[in-house]
Order: sequence, then C-alpha cells, then structure tokens
Amino acid sequence: MAETKEIKPAGPSVMAIFGAAGDLTKRLLIPSLYNLRKQKLVPDEFAIVGFARTALSEEEFRERMEEDVKKFVGADADTSVISWLMERLYYIKAEFHDEDGYRRLKQKLEECDKTHQTKGNYSFYLATAPEFFLEATQHINKVGLFQQCDGCWRRLVVEKPFGHDWESARQLNHDLADLLREDQIFRIDHYLGKETVQNILALRFANGIFEPIWNRRYIDHVQITVAETVGVETRGGYYDTAGALRDMVPNHILQLISLTAMEPPISFAADPVRNEQVKVLQAIRPMKAEDVSSNAVRGQYGSSSDGKMPAYRSESRVSPQSITETFVAAKLLVDNWRWADVPFYLRTGKRLPKRVTEIAIHFKRAPFSVFRQTDVDRLRRNVLVLHIQPDEGISLGFEAKIPGPVMRLGEVGLKFAYSDYFGKEARTGYETLLYDVMINDPTLFQRADMVESGWGVVTPLQKAWYGVPAPELPNYEAGSWGPQAADELLTREGRHWRKIE
Ligand code: BG6
Repeated sequence: MAETKEIKPAGPSVMAIFGAAGDLTKRLLIPSLYNLRKQKLVPDEFAIVGFARTALSEEEFRERMEEDVKKFVGADADTSVISWLMERLYYIKAEFHDEDGYRRLKQKLEECDKTHQTKGNYSFYLATAPEFFLEATQHINKVGLFQQCDGCWRRLVVEKPFGHDWESARQLNHDLADLLREDQIFRIDHYLGKETVQNILALRFANGIFEPIWNRRYIDHVQITVAETVGVETRGGYYDTAGALRDMVPNHILQLISLTAMEPPISFAADPVRNEQVKVLQAIRPMKAEDVSSNAVRGQYGSSSDGKMPAYRSESRVSPQSITETFVAAKLLVDNWRWADVPFYLRTGKRLPKRVTEIAIHFKRAPFSVFRQTDVDRLRRNVLVLHIQPDEGISLGFEAKIPGPVMRLGEVGLKFAYSDYFGKEARTGYETLLYDVMINDPTLFQRADMVESGWGVVTPLQKAWYGVPAPELPNYEAGSWGPQAADELLTREGRHWRKIE
C-alpha cells in the first residue's frame, strides 16, 4: 500500500503465473493488470509468462485471455491496453514436476529481459492448487531463479490456502525459508486488497473521534459477518476437504479482526503495521477443548425450503455423507487491556440470504436513562457498521426523538457510501496487491508469524470438530441465516445478531 502522495509506475519486471490456465488468472489477475496499466502504474518494461498444465499454444492462451479480459471490462474496454497486454503475454505448458518446464521458463524470462527490458526482475505467482506450492517453488529454486544478482529482484507470491492447519503452515513456512528470504515471500490474503478493509486503518487512525472510544469502556461487543449467497459452485472438490472454518476464518476473518482490534502502529510501514496485527492474533484467547461446543457453532446447508437450492451434500464433487461445515459462528476474546471481556462474534457461511461482509461495532448503552417517566423503556446501543461489501461505506445508528407531544425515540442513521464520494470504479480488488508486489511493499501481505498465529486461533476448533461427526448435519436451510445454535451463541448473553436486510 503505497504511502507516498505521488503514485508512480512500478519498475520493470516479469510476472510468471503458475496455474495460469485457471480461474484466478482470467477472472482476477489479468483484469487487474489491465486496470493497473490503464492507471499507468505498469511500465512498458513488463511481461507476463503463464505456466500451466493445460495443453495450449501461446497463441491460444493469448486468445483466451483476450476474450476473458474483454468480458471483464465489457463495452468500455480500451483496446489499446488489451493489445498492449497481449503483446507481452507468453505461455509455457508443463507439469509442475517437470524440470524441463522450469528450464524453458528460465529461458523465456531471459528472452523477456531482452525483448521488454525487464532487467531480470521476476515475481512468481503461485495460483495453483496448494499441493503444488512447494514443488513449484523448489523447482524455481533449482534452476536458480530465486537468486537476486546485479541489483535484480526475485519474489514469490503465494495464494491461499497457506497450509491446512498450524503444523502444515509452519512446515510450509519452514520449507520456503530454506529456499528464499522472508522478504521475498508475499502471502496473499485477498481481503487485504479490498479498499474498505484498508479503510479500517484510515477510519481508526486518521480521525480523532473514533480512537478514544475504541475500547472496552465504550464498546460492548463486535460482530463480524461474512455471508455469501452462493453455494460451493464448481469448487466442491476443494471445499469438501476444507470447510468454512479453514476457508474463511484463519485468513479473511482474522484479518478483519486484527485491523479492527490492533493498537496504533508507530508508522504506516509494513512491519510496524504487521507487528500490531500479529499481537492481536496472539492475544486471542485459545479456546479450551471443553469450551468449543459452547463458543463455536458449525453448520451445513440442506436444500432450501422451496427446493430450488440443493443441499450441500448434493453439490457436485461433494461426498453425499459429507460432514464438512459450510457455516461457522464463534465467539472470540482478545485478552489485552483494550479488549478484555469484549466478545468478538464472527459468522460466515455459504447459502445465506444475502451477500454481505461487515464489521458492526456495538457500543454500550447510555449509562443512565433520563426518560423514565416517558414511553421510552429501553435505550438501544449505538452501532457503527463498517460495510466492507457489496455496499461499501460506513453507517452509524443512533436514537432520535420522534416528532410529537410525547418523548418517543426512534433509530436513525448517518451513512457514508464510498460511491457517493469516489464514484464506482471497476476493480477486482487485486490491483493494489499486484502493484505492491512490483514495488516491494509487503504491508498488505501476511508474514510467516501472522499465518501461523491465525492457524493457532482455529486449532482448538479443528481438533474438536474433525474426526468427530457433527451432530445433525445439515442443520440449516439454504437461504437462511444459519443454524439456530448460532443465534443462541448471542441470545444467551443478552445480545442478537444485527438484522441485515
Ligand atoms: C475465498 C474463499 O478465499 O474467498 C471462497 O476460498 C470465498 O470460498 C471467497 O467465496 C470470498 O471472497 P469475496 O471477496 O467474494 O468475499
């Protein structure tokens, strides 16, 4: 995340994308590079080399990418930018274990240096299935491509999932550390590419009014919702081995919690920011085995009441007996002076009624009600909502007097919508991340200790849930807000999930 006032184009480089024939490349990476070039943030001295197992000629790969990028940008496509991209797009068909493929890659990169003056600066983007992460990295290393010589740089970008539990993440970190330096590794969490997620820092630390009340004295609890309407779509194979907990919590949701709960960093540079984030993750109270059932809920969707949405177990490439969770709710506590006893409730799931990601800060009620002789019997809590997606903005709910001769209160709101101020730009959410790799700014990337701490938080849930059949799955209808037990997680503490309409 560039902190300077003037945004400059990145320097020369080649981006090699592993798994380039997959979904991520066509839906997000190439369109993001298109957007970055349109904003003049990618220089002429740039090229992309796709590396994948799909049998395609270079020409066929270009044609595919051209079609996809046109589909993404639609009628407003700037054909000169598309041609610019296509002129510097190359393809290598190889298996990830095939040494010869990496030698051809090296040759291709050297050719790019000559044709496009890319100066030996390479990023290697692992957009493959996770089982190939280490294999591909080892081969890149074997052909000497991680060596940074004569002022050139070499960087590795790793997609999620980074491991499948604490041990495997730790092992992967360890194995990568044998091959390259930590400052060469960029672990992606695409939530950090979202403008509204980055805006949490601006809201908290660029304004004087929020920080003084951003603590246990004024905040009752925090609710984080990451709800999706979609089911598992074409990803049943992956999802059935992952589940909602692994897929969403140690990464995306904990990023949201760490940005919401962190202390002010001493500067906006990468390590000061990440140091404060990791402290939050390390302060999350480890759930005791015996507390998992009362502090966390798992769910799986059945079919919808009208039968139009199939049950999870009927989705393609999902086991008909699957006990994989498609919904998680949990209560976490951050054990430090700022947050002691303030619950952070999280919920995430597939096939919920609305696609919405938000962080709702529920403030404590006014300490004393002066309205005793009136119709007002109970004051509500003020709620500040950071709307992450799809409606990006911030809203604040508070009480106001309803006009009339008696004192009655009604909830009203202040609302800031990003689109009112800054318009709506077509963005994938990956632009900043790709640009940051090119300019070597790791602020929005996960450090090794952050990933491990994230997995550490969910370890007790993994231990309690996997291998032990969950009771009564499926336990929520597709199109509902999840299992009843998720509501009870809050109601038994006198709280309720915010109604999201
Ligand atoms: C991905 C998960 O990391 O994030 C998906 O693997 C999920 O299962 C997606 O759908 C959600 O991302 P977004 O940006 O649509 O909220």
